[in-house]
Amino acid sequence: MTPPPFSILEIAPWICYYCLSLFLILNCYSTTAQPPFDYPTANISTTWTNNESLPHSVSFTDGSQVRAILLRGSFGPKFTCGFYCNGTCTSYLFAVFIVQTNSGGGIVQPSIGFPQVVWSANRDSPVSYGAILNLTATGELVLQDADGSTVWTTNTTGKSVAGLNLTDDGNLVLFDVNSSVVWQSFDYPTDCLVPGKRLFQGQHVSSTNWTAQKDLFSLQVTNEGLFAYVRSNPPQVYYNSLMYRNNTNTGRRYIRFLNGSLSLFTLSVEPSDPFQLFYIPIASSAQYMKLMPDGHLKVFEWQGSWLVVADLFNGYLGECNYPMACGRNGLCSGNQQCSCPVSGSPRIDYFRAVNDRQPNLGCSAITPLTCNSTQDQTFIALENVMYFSINEDMERMDIDTCKQAYVVHRNSSAFIKVQNVRSPPSTSRSTLGVILTSTIGSVLFLLGVIGFLVYIIRKQRRDAQMEEESIGENFDRSQPEESWHLLGVLQKGWEQGMLLDMVDKYSEDMQTRSLEVVEMMKVASWCLQYDFTKRPSMSTVVKVLEGVMKVESRLDYNFTDQNITLEHDQDMTPLMASVLSGPR
Ligand SMILES: *[C@@H]1O[C@H](CO)[C@@H](O)[C@H](O)[C@H]1NC(C)=O
Ligand SMILES: *[C@@H]1O[C@H](CO)[C@@H](O)[C@H](O)[C@H]1NC(C)=O
Ligand SMILES: *[C@@H]1O[C@H](CO)[C@@H](O)[C@H](O)[C@H]1NC(C)=O
Ligand SMILES: *[C@@H]1O[C@H](CO)[C@@H](O)[C@H](O)[C@H]1NC(C)=O
Ligand SMILES: *[C@@H]1O[C@H](CO)[C@@H](O)[C@H](O)[C@H]1NC(C)=O
Ligand SMILES: *[C@@H]1O[C@H](CO)[C@@H](O)[C@H](O)[C@H]1NC(C)=O
Ligand SMILES: *[C@@H]1O[C@H](CO)[C@@H](O)[C@H](O)[C@H]1NC(C)=O
Ligand SMILES: *[C@@H]1O[C@H](CO)[C@@H](O)[C@H](O)[C@H]1NC(C)=O
Ligand SMILES: *[C@@H]1O[C@H](CO)[C@@H](O)[C@H](O)[C@H]1NC(C)=O
Repeated sequence: MTPPPFSILEIAPWICYYCLSLFLILNCYSTTAQPPFDYPTANISTTWTNNESLPHSVSFTDGSQVRAILLRGSFGPKFTCGFYCNGTCTSYLFAVFIVQTNSGGGIVQPSIGFPQVVWSANRDSPVSYGAILNLTATGELVLQDADGSTVWTTNTTGKSVAGLNLTDDGNLVLFDVNSSVVWQSFDYPTDCLVPGKRLFQGQHVSSTNWTAQKDLFSLQVTNEGLFAYVRSNPPQVYYNSLMYRNNTNTGRRYIRFLNGSLSLFTLSVEPSDPFQLFYIPIASSAQYMKLMPDGHLKVFEWQGSWLVVADLFNGYLGECNYPMACGRNGLCSGNQQCSCPVSGSPRIDYFRAVNDRQPNLGCSAITPLTCNSTQDQTFIALENVMYFSINEDMERMDIDTCKQAYVVHRNSSAFIKVQNVRSPPSTSRSTLGVILTSTIGSVLFLLGVIGFLVYIIRKQRRDAQMEEESIGENFDRSQPEESWHLLGVLQKGWEQGMLLDMVDKYSEDMQTRSLEVVEMMKVASWCLQYDFTKRPSMSTVVKVLEGVMKVESRLDYNFTDQNITLEHDQDMTPLMASVLSGPR
């Protein structure tokens, strides 16, 4: 018998080696494939630092970035909590957001599945790179900025917190040893509602403006129904949905975002008979509702990208009924055409657009109201103007009263309090600056007219060039007081009734256009009125030039004694210079 090729003793180490390798391979494999992605809970005594140490970091093509801490579920749009930033990424929120996940729970689709923030702990005080989230041993969830300052905390020390849970519906929960809720993000809504979320009486959702002016709009449930407010003192209602039914239930009311509706419940116990406020398209995928920075209440749905599937107040409010449709002090007409209010006759501009190119940003008072000089305040009347605010006195009225109210409402007048400026000699310099700006259009126009006259006169008076050149040079040197020499000439013209003669004498072309020139001189004189309330606005001037309006007949032609102290106003000089160079 030949011996076997190997003894069992010889083969044993190989088997062991093989087994060990297999074990190691399996072990390694299971480490990488182990659910590193579906990580919906955390235990106490855990800290997370907002830097690359957090494994699930994803940058999106819209400039946003997330560092996930907890994530529940896989495959499709799922809730995640973690650090979130957008843009320059110098400031971060600790937030709950929806991201797209693959079957392994990895965050995917960085070019379309942009994170949708539905809740945040610190929207008013974002933290920086290196901030720490600490689920302490004492059961408190604390957010510390990189400098160690505490930015936010759940205040749950000593409440037997056992861990942190991100639920299926996007609620971040601190639970205790009995798995009951100690703290939950649903009790502190920000600007969003997620499906299933109840918004109770006493809670509110408020809009977020990332740049500033936070909290402009809010949504609340009261005993009467659902109300949307714009921030003011007191807040004003721009949308409401009242319960008309005689409701004897006195439970704590709430609205709930359901699949297909936003419903109002008057009992704290479900199921009760809800009052459906809004129908919402049936959810084919993830949805959330957001009170937007412009006051709209929108529902978003993931359909391969995030789309707006409903704009809930739109069936009830036109674009102009949103309180900030045309910004502060703006007038909205048609489908959001914005303008600034103006007084009737005499027309004075008390407001100007904050930004001429974006009239929807609103208007600012040229002279702000001041309590010190209430005697200088007047009201400008605007005809046929409505106000966005819902008059609560009009609730439950009968039809005739309503019709009557509607007729009144339809061409109601609005009165806006404005500040007049006292006559220049008695004003301080800063107020003078305001006066000048208020008539800046007129002044610039006047200087244009004067420049034009200078040009004509110079062209024609070649034999008397010296004197005129000196005027021209004075304009070049931008010394505004020199313009008063010309005013002297103009005044003399008026005083001696020979303005027309003056023009005719120098220009043959002018003969045909002499009336126009005199008209322009009149306009110039109008712009120079000592009493600024008698000066025309720029648009009035334009109307005069178009022939639609006539120059005010009772003008004061004494310009030079008025001593309107333009000369030392630093702010005005460069403007005049740049305009004066124009007509040459
Ligand atoms: C991030 O900022 C950009 C530019 O401001 C904006 O277009 C984008 O919608 C923002 N992304 C998210 C998820 O809010
Ligand atoms: C987290 O909180 C614990 C107290 O529970 C503290 O000892 C620890 O230093 C904190 N960690 C950080 C990184 O701040
Ligand atoms: C925690 O308590 C502080 C001080 O009492 C309070 O300002 C803060 O709003 C509380 N935080 C939360 C999340 O309730
Ligand atoms: C965490 O949330 C999940 C999903 O909503 C829920 O099933 C589970 O019971 C929660 N766990 C604890 C400890 O609260
Ligand atoms: C947990 O439940 C037990 C039994 O109901 C109770 O005795 C205990 O006080 C509970 N613990 C907390 C922290 O609520
Ligand atoms: C957000 O705030 C900025 C700065 O105050 C403001 O210019 C902008 O109009 C605001 N946006 C909205 C929608 O209110
Ligand atoms: C909403 O309800 C419809 C049918 O009523 C159902 O098909 C759909 O899956 C539901 N959507 C969600 C997100 O639950
Ligand atoms: C208003 O009057 C008070 C006291 O007379 C003064 O201190 C303040 O500067 C005045 N304000 C303005 C805007 O004139
Ligand atoms: C309403 O408008 C009409 C036509 O413009 C006008 O005649 C009427 O006086 C106005 N009524 C009120 C109450 O202002």
